[in-house]
Amino acid sequence: MKNLIIVKHPIASHNLSIMRDKNTGKIDFINALDKISYILAAEAYSSIALETKPVNTPFKKINGVRVRDKIVLLPILRAGLGLTKGFVDLYPEVITSHIGIYRDEESLKPVQYYFRFPKIKDKKDLNVIILDPMIATGGSVIFTIEYLLNMGVKKIRVVSLLAAPEGINAINKRFNKNEKKSIEIITCSLDEKLNQNGYIVPGLGDAGDRMFGT
Ligand code: PRP
Ligand code: URA
Repeated sequence: MKNLIIVKHPIASHNLSIMRDKNTGKIDFINALDKISYILAAEAYSSIALETKPVNTPFKKINGVRVRDKIVLLPILRAGLGLTKGFVDLYPEVITSHIGIYRDEESLKPVQYYFRFPKIKDKKDLNVIILDPMIATGGSVIFTIEYLLNMGVKKIRVVSLLAAPEGINAINKRFNKNEKKSIEIITCSLDEKLNQNGYIVPGLGDAGDRMFGT
């Protein structure tokens, strides 16, 4: 799967193990996720387009660069908020928008309750990064991608912490038949499977609940 990037950075793997441990409390859970968010951000930002910008060093004028793309983060509430820190710290110019979605506990289907996005007419250089630590059935991410495509957004990337094969397959089946136009998914681990309740195994449990102490 060319469009699936699994980030195996040792510091990310170290912190992911802390998050998976059922005995890890809320504070350590959030701290570990914060650290991983920098590593995921570095990966997600690595293909952002640049443009030249003249720079006067103390000695001469050179062709420097600056980010050309307009980057919008779209964390899926609630748990997606936990991935924003590294993205905002590394590139404070980024715009953070929000989509609120929860999974219906019975049907596991996504239910949307909020959407806030900047008005951007020219979408040519618009680059939207969807943030959600968990891709389980893939329903929440698929709903969000559909929403963005309907708005005319062309450059979409998904960043997660853990993904189940069922979710990745569902996303690829829906959007990624054409490899050239496929939507990139960046994650730290492709886990084994979903259990009968739609939770990722081995996973880390309910990300939102562990992050917010609910
Ligand atoms: C969790 C998680 C994802 C979604 C993944 O959200 O944060 O958004 O489930 O599942 P899916 O791939 O099957 O759609 P949840 O519904 O628990 O809401 P929360 O973030 O508000 O806790
Ligand atoms: N949402 C979570 O928070 N965890 C899972 O394992 C699946 C969906």
